[in-house]
Amino acid sequence: MIWKRWSRAERAGADTLPENAVIAPAAAEYETVPMVAAAGPAASGPAASAARPAATDTRPAFLDTLWREPQPVVRPFTLPRFSASASDDVEPGDSDAGLARRKLALRDALGASQPVIGRESFAGRHDALAQLIASIEQQRVHVVIYGERGIGKTSLAHVFAETAREARYLVLYGSCGTEAQFDAMFRSFAARIPRLYHKSVLPNSPEAERGDNFDVMLEEHFGPRELADLFADVTGTRVIIILDEYDRVLDASFRRDVAELIKNLSDRAARVQLVLTGVAQNLDELIGYAPSIRRNIVGLPMRPLSVNEVRDVIAIGETAADIKFSDEAVQMITAMAGGSPYLVRLLAHQAGLAALADKRSQVTENHGRTAVERVLTDWNASLPRRVQASLGRDEARAQWPLLIAAARAGSSADGYFTVDDVYTELGGNSVPTIIERDLKRFANANDLLELQEPGGEARFRFRYPGVSSLLLMSAAMARMAP
Ligand SMILES: Nc1ncnc2c1ncn2[C@@H]1O[C@H](COP(=O)(O)OP(=O)(O)O)[C@@H](O)[C@H]1O
Ligand SMILES: [Mg+2]
Repeated sequence: MIWKRWSRAERAGADTLPENAVIAPAAAEYETVPMVAAAGPAASGPAASAARPAATDTRPAFLDTLWREPQPVVRPFTLPRFSASASDDVEPGDSDAGLARRKLALRDALGASQPVIGRESFAGRHDALAQLIASIEQQRVHVVIYGERGIGKTSLAHVFAETAREARYLVLYGSCGTEAQFDAMFRSFAARIPRLYHKSVLPNSPEAERGDNFDVMLEEHFGPRELADLFADVTGTRVIIILDEYDRVLDASFRRDVAELIKNLSDRAARVQLVLTGVAQNLDELIGYAPSIRRNIVGLPMRPLSVNEVRDVIAIGETAADIKFSDEAVQMITAMAGGSPYLVRLLAHQAGLAALADKRSQVTENHGRTAVERVLTDWNASLPRRVQASLGRDEARAQWPLLIAAARAGSSADGYFTVDDVYTELGGNSVPTIIERDLKRFANANDLLELQEPGGEARFRFRYPGVSSLLLMSAAMARMAP
């Protein structure tokens, strides 16, 4: 399973919340109520969830330190400084310039905040790339790349773009925002297609010499049909338009227009193809129910990285920073990352830094453990105070298995889950009404869950997606514990 991650908007929302606005209700309120599943393998009780492996039911002791003892502020003797200049030159006065350089190299190879843009730092994914190329080149269809956040959609799109440009395709990349408007977005794409490629324009005509682009041939307002008419006249090249983060677009008419554009481009066999990417678990979630374009579209699901692909990602860091990950460290990172390239990089980067801080070139399992703890600490610190307090309180501890099951159930694109989903995750051994009651206890105004009841059926979602990432990685960590 791949964990969910923050979207930019969600993160921004979390940042602006007042700290410790509301304190969670006192634990005593729940004391008399039987729990769905009590904490710890030794727990008995009406419905201690027998189906889950015992380790999953344990909350790693590390979290208790995180939530019970706020970190004292340690004042260093001198204020911290940057270790390299903005031009990436290591500061000349640095006593350990070699080390600093290796840290930078590690960050460049394994930093997890940016998508991969070049082939040299792209690991694995040969099948996905081959399938994408074949869909564009052989089948001449439009492609929708979908999967969890952090699974590598944008990176694949960039490496594909590089490969297509080498084959002389004109590749236009655009990232969709929540406010995306069809005509503004496609006008800017048209503005990047030289008019030279319009079938009416002769190579040394005044229009071609002026360096105009396709946008000059668009009316002020246009829809998908007019655009397809124009794009049908592309000649002398093939154009690929990549619409990244398609799931973020809120405007339903944008999606309708894109579907209509795809249909018209296909009907006219235009030399323009679209590649959409988005967070989704299936094609319908992303493009909606659109039977008229189904045969013109190929869905490309992004799968979790295989064990070998994880090895490949780590190997890129090893070469760059001249370090070696032990097999145990690799196994640990593989288990904790659940196939997410984002998490592989995040953990491998931290583990590598921990080894370098020890002045070691060998990354051990212990460095891996340090990396997990650092990541959990960082995630925790990025949550509002009151959310941290909610996670640390007694019911959260007692309901740990329920919360973990909820986090698993909520790993769909929009994060929503129902009582049934949690019931399934708990192994089908609990009572749905009790699950519902217990989930609702976490759904008060400022608590961990958000509750909606459209048409009567309760659906929940973690108020901060960061919480479910934290829960899922904690569960993975508990499984790793010796
Ligand atoms: N094939 C890959 N090789 C190495 N790193 C990758 C690969 N795919 C993704 N990553 C890394 O994983 C993280 C998430 O990738 P990204 O392409 O942004 O995912 P998505 O667009 O699906 O959210 C980034 O740090 C990126 O560098
Ligand atoms: Mg992306």
